Amino acid sequence: MRIALGSDHAGFPLKAALVEYLEGAGHDVDDLGTENATVSVDYPDYGAAVGRAAVSGSVDFGIAICGTGIGISMAANKVPGVRAGLAHDVTTATLAKQHNHANVLCFGARVIGSQTAIDSLEAFMAAEELDGRHVRRIDELTALDEAGRQSEEQA
Ligand code: RB5
Repeated sequence: MRIALGSDHAGFPLKAALVEYLEGAGHDVDDLGTENATVSVDYPDYGAAVGRAAVSGSVDFGIAICGTGIGISMAANKVPGVRAGLAHDVTTATLAKQHNHANVLCFGARVIGSQTAIDSLEAFMAAEELDGRHVRRIDELTALDEAGRQSEEQA
């Protein structure tokens, strides 16, 4: 798989651990920054970059990381077409794929250990998007994106 990763300074240590894990497992990684944990940067820049990569089709999915995972998931979800899900464990990562068809997986580096994040990432990649009622709800999310686009055009 090809996976885009991005984080702010707080998420950098976990991003580095996930890049190492993914490359070791034979995946292709697009590392969109940031480059260190010492220079403070703004999570919206990195959440948006990962979100844009995820909807562009250049990668299979994105991973976005900040301190809590909250801010960067908010940022990624501002990009139309993004379904970013914040995962804390294997269960939430699996359900983000199965129920929410997440195309961006988010973590909070200050609230999850790196092994739990790796286990969650493996579960996310192994899980399948479920059909039925879940597709109807994904279609409703897509309609919200479209309504947002239309109201911007009218403004
Ligand atoms: C940075 O200090 C921190 O606010 C950020 O990483 C994130 O947790 C925001 O949601």
